[in-house]
Amino acid sequence: MSLEDRLLVFSGTSNPPLTDAICRYLGTKQADASVARFPDGEISVKIQADVRGADVYVIQSTCTPVNDNLMELLTLIDALRRASANTITAVIPYFGYARQDRKDEGRVPISAKLVANLITQAGANRVLTIDLHAAQIQGFFDIPLDHIYASPVLVRHFKRLGLDDLVICSPDVGGMKMAWGYAKRLGARLAVVEKRRVSPTKVEAGFVIGDVAGRNVVLVDDIVATGGSVAEAATVLLQKQAASVSFCVTHPVMCGKAVENLGGSELTRIVTTDTIPLGEKAEALGERLTVLSVADLLGEAIHRIHSNRSVSYLFNLE
Ligand code: R5P
Repeated sequence: MSLEDRLLVFSGTSNPPLTDAICRYLGTKQADASVARFPDGEISVKIQADVRGADVYVIQSTCTPVNDNLMELLTLIDALRRASANTITAVIPYFGYARQDRKDEGRVPISAKLVANLITQAGANRVLTIDLHAAQIQGFFDIPLDHIYASPVLVRHFKRLGLDDLVICSPDVGGMKMAWGYAKRLGARLAVVEKRRVSPTKVEAGFVIGDVAGRNVVLVDDIVATGGSVAEAATVLLQKQAASVSFCVTHPVMCGKAVENLGGSELTRIVTTDTIPLGEKAEALGERLTVLSVADLLGEAIHRIHSNRSVSYLFNLE
């Protein structure tokens, strides 16, 4: 069996267009597996291809419906392990449950750790993921985890836009490190909006640290969920006389009133990636939205993992 023959790509049902694009990059076809539902809603998986001795990559974002997509991933891994795959890499472009990464109050779970345990116990040998909500989630896994960044794709886009007087702004204090990375790459200044979360669906933006008056501001975040944080932040930045406010976000979770919040916001543009499929939401947001693909990045990462080459090489692409 040649090296190429031994690389097999499987997929759950969370993001078929991204899987197709990754397969195109790798010059391979998705391997056959059926993923369906039993009448009571339980997930039914059957691997059709012979995987004995193969290095398999299972692509699945654990986006909405989060629990179904997670269970698909786990059952696919279990089936592949029992079918004697040589190695199993869980390729998780968007890693759900990541925001529950610590006990920030009493009697709550650390769900990100639980999910890491489940993936490991199911039989994954390695994880490949993009822009984890918190980098320390890498340590929740005792198997190798390759954590890559969407920034090469997003930074390239903003370089091409060539906005003057650029300020990269984090919509909250927790996102400062990510914003700083973008500011460094784009040669921009840095700012932060003070955000208070009033409830899981309501945030309030307070004061701005940094000089934004007359400048083009790009808010950078890893996740947009309801869009509340970024819409509030855009309003506050414009009150501080920002010339324009754009939004750059890796994972378009876009749940609840996201389309209304983003559509009704004062953002000039929203730039995101295809780690999560947007479907009709993309049409609703119209021309203000740009979706860039991370398929080549993931494809190259898979290629490098498979041929035992450096994955860090991907950090500095632009
Ligand atoms: C928070 O720490 C995250 O980085 C995002 O800012 C947050 O999840 C966005 O939530 P929403 O869009 O619902 O305001």
